[in-house]
Amino acid sequence: MKLAVNVDHFATLRQARRSDEPDPVLVALLAEQAGAEGIVVHLRGDRRHIQERDLRLLREVVKTKLILEMAATGEMKKIALRIKPDVVSLVPERREELTTSGGLNVIAGQRVLGPFIRDLKKAGIRVSIFVDPDPGQINTCAKLDVDLIEINTGKFADLNPGAARERSLKKVKQAATLAHNLGLAVHAGHGLDYRNVGEIVGIPEIVELSIGFSIVARAAVVGIVQAVQEMTVRL
Ligand code: PXP
Repeated sequence: MKLAVNVDHFATLRQARRSDEPDPVLVALLAEQAGAEGIVVHLRGDRRHIQERDLRLLREVVKTKLILEMAATGEMKKIALRIKPDVVSLVPERREELTTSGGLNVIAGQRVLGPFIRDLKKAGIRVSIFVDPDPGQINTCAKLDVDLIEINTGKFADLNPGAARERSLKKVKQAATLAHNLGLAVHAGHGLDYRNVGEIVGIPEIVELSIGFSIVARAAVVGIVQAVQEMTVRL
């Protein structure tokens, strides 16, 4: 299982004082040294954490792969085509949310998403969609010809142990099997931490996890290298 580390919240800390540290670019390099196989950033319309400067520098220095999470807007498409990350991960975005709060509704948005995805792929960028573990949504992702999907584990991660959590985990498993059978590479993420990651690691179709907050929170105490290493040993 591969680990992609989301460094957004190092930028959140920097932006709290509009300072120049901590630098998410330095953190990304250290995370790679510690075993991360991808670096993820979400460039938001409101630029609350990651800035275009970060994206430009990360494109130059990241040696594994650079994954850009973004909303499917004209502004973001222009930036993606200029920066050329290895992967664009399309996510829904609402200004008032603290973090991404659900998968992209590809059934509702498919007419707009089709040409959007084609343009990115034509430029050599692999395209991912962050999607809820819902068979209808996943079938539509396959029709849209994306390279991979990231299954939203946020609901599973929010639940306390019990029947509802088990049902949620089962949905993630079934979604992973469906997507794999449709020929999609299957990634997962959102809300994963050092305690709950084991259950997701047990799903064989899932080949990569995108983890941010829990690693950043632990890194604030023990440092990024140790925080990444403590996660990779669980994968
Ligand atoms: N995947 C997606 C699509 C996300 O938007 C985020 C949060 O930025 C993550 C994964 C990582 O979630 P977390 O910070 O809860 O690990």
